Amino acid sequence: MEKAQANIRINELRAIIIEANRKYYVENAPTLSDYEFDMLLKELEALEKEHPDLVTPDSPTQKVGSDLDNKAAKGKAKEFQQYPHRFPMLSLGNTYDIAEVQAFADRAAKGIGNTFTYSCELKFDGTAICLTYRNGKLFRALTRGDGTVGDDVTENARQIGNIPQQLSGSGWPEEFEIRGEVYMPWAAFDRLNEEREREEEQPFANPRNAASGSLKLIDSSMVANRGLECTLYHMLGEDLPFATHDEALGKACEWGLPVSDKRKLCKSIEEIEEFITYWDTERKMLPFATDGIVIKVNELQYQDELGYTAKFPRWAVAYKFKAEQALTRLLSIDYQVGRTGAVTPVANLEPVQLSGTIVKRASLHNADQMQFLDIHVGDYVYVEKGGEIIPKITGVELSQREPGVTLPHFPETCPDCGTQLVRDEQEAKAFCPNQSGCPTQIKGKLVHFLSRKAMNVIAGDATIDQLYNKGLVWNVADFYELGKEHLLTLDGWKDRSAERFLKSLQDSKDTPFERVLYALGIRHVGETTAKSLARHFGSIDALMTAGKEQLLGADDIGEVIADSIISYFDDEINCETIERLKAAGLKFEVDKAPEQKSDALVGKTVVVSGNFSVSRDEIKALIVAHGGKASGSVSGKTAYLLAGEKAGPEKLKKAESLGVTVIGEAEFRDLIETKEEGTLF
Ligand code: IVH
Repeated sequence: MEKAQANIRINELRAIIIEANRKYYVENAPTLSDYEFDMLLKELEALEKEHPDLVTPDSPTQKVGSDLDNKAAKGKAKEFQQYPHRFPMLSLGNTYDIAEVQAFADRAAKGIGNTFTYSCELKFDGTAICLTYRNGKLFRALTRGDGTVGDDVTENARQIGNIPQQLSGSGWPEEFEIRGEVYMPWAAFDRLNEEREREEEQPFANPRNAASGSLKLIDSSMVANRGLECTLYHMLGEDLPFATHDEALGKACEWGLPVSDKRKLCKSIEEIEEFITYWDTERKMLPFATDGIVIKVNELQYQDELGYTAKFPRWAVAYKFKAEQALTRLLSIDYQVGRTGAVTPVANLEPVQLSGTIVKRASLHNADQMQFLDIHVGDYVYVEKGGEIIPKITGVELSQREPGVTLPHFPETCPDCGTQLVRDEQEAKAFCPNQSGCPTQIKGKLVHFLSRKAMNVIAGDATIDQLYNKGLVWNVADFYELGKEHLLTLDGWKDRSAERFLKSLQDSKDTPFERVLYALGIRHVGETTAKSLARHFGSIDALMTAGKEQLLGADDIGEVIADSIISYFDDEINCETIERLKAAGLKFEVDKAPEQKSDALVGKTVVVSGNFSVSRDEIKALIVAHGGKASGSVSGKTAYLLAGEKAGPEKLKKAESLGVTVIGEAEFRDLIETKEEGTLF
């Protein structure tokens, strides 16, 4: 390609790749399939090879994709401490072509000039982690970050069941690093996504994104519930006493570190190919996602000799499996209204076999996606199951487009109630704003309110349909005003069924506040968010009057959730509903004040800022447990500013100007612990 033209394409490719990298690593919401991404990167590499003078140090061919800057992600104010990597944390050269694996083996053989072996391993589809052990104890866990600097996720890594805090056995170097992958097994992924779909939260596109998003949760205690696992595959350190990679991993395993046993030492390209062919089918039986095979030179001396490029080791390569696809015809598109009013396009397909199941329906996400794909009804489309529960349409086979295909029009009005739809720019989704009049939304809210994880009232969807259709219930508060006489008017209801239902409603009044809050069905307030809000605010009254700043101060609450909460309480109908539910006796406060552990902070207001060894909410709970009051802003009444890492500079300045004592976490703990001991005697 001519230079000027190449330059234009190079810049275009860089922009696409940089944005795709950001979506993948930072937002955990990829826009391109791995294959599409890899092909664009290869095109860029080829152009840069042809025109080496156009290579710049910031080209995505020269740098690994970065997972830093999560602040931008969904408006969450993530603040992880960052630390430099002792050894750069690189990526792997990859290919979908076995001939390129052969070429890698040839290059390695030529460079080494001696006999050597390969370690063949699964390529785990998760997010990279670097663990440092000091004197046998887990000292730090960093993400890959930009390869030079990573986010400190130590507290979160401590919540992952198979990462040992303390090594077993003996003989470990005083300090070493071991790198690997944090991944989410299918079972945990399906559970999480089912929950997110129930909440009408965007499900994670694949287990990799789910693992990466979970590893970066602010509240460490939430990480424990996500079912993450870790596998380790690369040990580093000064003068490690091993001759081979395999020996190092063998020792790591003896020390209790999680190392995969699905490894094989191979001597020839034939053996490598055999390993690849075996796992290309067998991987479908594994309880976690793998996207390929990694082939590494096993002898550490030869690894050193082969060295690294700016981005990859020359001693390893990844062979990637292509995601399974099927080509089928798009018959029609349904527009489904959910309980929060989101309208989602769902494709009806000519049934097709894909990864062992028959696919008839697939998600189209939103209007933008439909436009991006230039999809027409009647088109032949590619469906992929990249791990999602619902398969997705990844492309249109334009060469098979027939005359007569029709361009679909995303509806402008609600397919259920006819109300003009509104578009949520932040989420690129269309919504029906008729929250209290749209039948699908109302019924969806009623079903959600009674569901097991909410009020846990025994009632099927059919009961709710009956109650709604009879005009007995259209607001969740109506449930508590039902009497036996109302229920007996329903088809098929007898004394016993009516009594059972009323008893179940009565029992539900004991449901703890966090679940009542979840039951209200506030958009974006899922189970975990409800828990976090309940813990932070303590009561619905405090939550209702909280401003945006205060909402953002609770763990894992970002702009989108804060705005949704504010708009929920701005609606008078919602406030009335809460008043009626309060009158019915539901719990709108956390159960009881935490047990007072000491009076160390009685009468003292403490402002908390920055990051601590535990979540901010846990620190606030400690303040309260020791008699103090946690407050958001520094004033003349503040006794202490408790400043963690990256404490707000404004707060520090204000504390200084007002003469407020600034203390760190250690001093704070001294303060409460001394008192705790004191109260014992
Ligand atoms: S070795 C110097 N081994 O794949 C590079 N990586 O696409 C050492 N990965 O960044 C990496 N399974 O996060 C290695 N068995 C395995 C792996 C593996 C998954 C990840 C890793 C890497 C990425 C490259």
